[in-house]
Amino acid sequence: MSETFDFIIHGGTVYTPGGPLELDVGVRAGKIAALGKLNPGSAARTYDARNLMVLPGLIDEQVHFREPGPTHKEDLESGTRGAILGGITAVFEMPNTDPATTTAAAINDKISRGTGRCWTDFAFYVGASPENADELYALERLPGCCGIKMFMGSSTGTLLVADDENVSRVLKSGSRRVTVHSEDDMRLQERAGMVAGGADVSMHPEWRDVETAVRSTQRLLALAHKHRRRVHVLHVSTAEEMDILAQHKDIATVEVLPQHLTLAAPECYERLGTLAQMNPPIREARHRAALWAALNAGIVDCIGSDHAPHTLEEKAKPYPRSPSGLTGVQTTVPLMLNHMAQGRLSLQRLVDMLSAGPARIFGIAGKGRVAVGYDADFTVVDLKAKRTITNNWIASRTGWTAFDGMDVTGWPMATIIRGNVVMRDDEVQDKPVGIPVRFQETL
Ligand code: DOR
Repeated sequence: MSETFDFIIHGGTVYTPGGPLELDVGVRAGKIAALGKLNPGSAARTYDARNLMVLPGLIDEQVHFREPGPTHKEDLESGTRGAILGGITAVFEMPNTDPATTTAAAINDKISRGTGRCWTDFAFYVGASPENADELYALERLPGCCGIKMFMGSSTGTLLVADDENVSRVLKSGSRRVTVHSEDDMRLQERAGMVAGGADVSMHPEWRDVETAVRSTQRLLALAHKHRRRVHVLHVSTAEEMDILAQHKDIATVEVLPQHLTLAAPECYERLGTLAQMNPPIREARHRAALWAALNAGIVDCIGSDHAPHTLEEKAKPYPRSPSGLTGVQTTVPLMLNHMAQGRLSLQRLVDMLSAGPARIFGIAGKGRVAVGYDADFTVVDLKAKRTITNNWIASRTGWTAFDGMDVTGWPMATIIRGNVVMRDDEVQDKPVGIPVRFQETL
């Protein structure tokens, strides 16, 4: 008697660790049970993936979903709905909510809010602060916690660990990878007068300049070596930092964002105004070119969206009172597939940075590759589909994307989480199935 499955994906090209192969995928109890030529009649449910590419579930390791707190911008339901429409199967959510996620109670509160409402699997960062710096060892190990987030420069919210003494305390407490917003707060404060009285938004990368980012990253790397602590430098935005980070791959992993890879100053500020305002800023084209070079040289380990929703009304305030951040969780996959179609990166690099990369950096258990025994998470894409990104398609409560009107080649056709098809053909299916992501226990 032939084997039976709960679900079979058949007829597609499956992106296995060995590369793309024409295989069917058999799923049982939410996990990949078989890869090979399978009989679609042996499963209760099937997905016809002919002419499509079945990728391992793509993971966004940096989103801000605003719950608890300013949920008029986003909440865990709307944020993760945008994620599945954009082909994302798991998200790691940032701690600059209100209250900030700095205690066990706050992590547990987010997990209970997310359960039954999150469309993707999820995990939450614990925010480092001078108050909890010595307790992070216990906090980072909580179920549903993906690790620590440290803001070395002030951004949206109140979290800040500015000086070397407190950065050291954070790095000394615990052993998982510490993710870092690396901008030097002392320099930011010294130079705030440049824009404080009102300025054009194109001044944003002048105030938060290259030196602000470089100084912080150099301090961070020196302290990471001193305390032998692995760090993950988020949204790297300068050519100079990439040169430095290339010398520290033994201790530092690197994230870049589609915004920094796609847009450049001054054009983005002329065209989009404060909709292009984010921290660290979008800079001139020479930085964008350096990020691409670093990405293709392997210095970059992953791509996150830094989905940071603010309403259009908030964004319309005069700079610098306009808040920093762009939506992104829904547009990462189409943008990166489009970059691939235009020859800027290979599919192998894309999958590595959006699936295997986060799994490797954070020690995710059971995700990050299409292999027997792994969670049955898939992002099914049509590499040839031609679509236009529009505000209408955006699920975020804020209803906008900086990429409104952009024509792209490549589109997510289905999002499958532990064997559940939660998005197909741009429609949300069924009900939220998200559960906390698990991490390797030895870390
Ligand atoms: O532009 C940003 N927006 N950068 C951050 O670091 C935070 C984010 C937000 O939460 O709005």
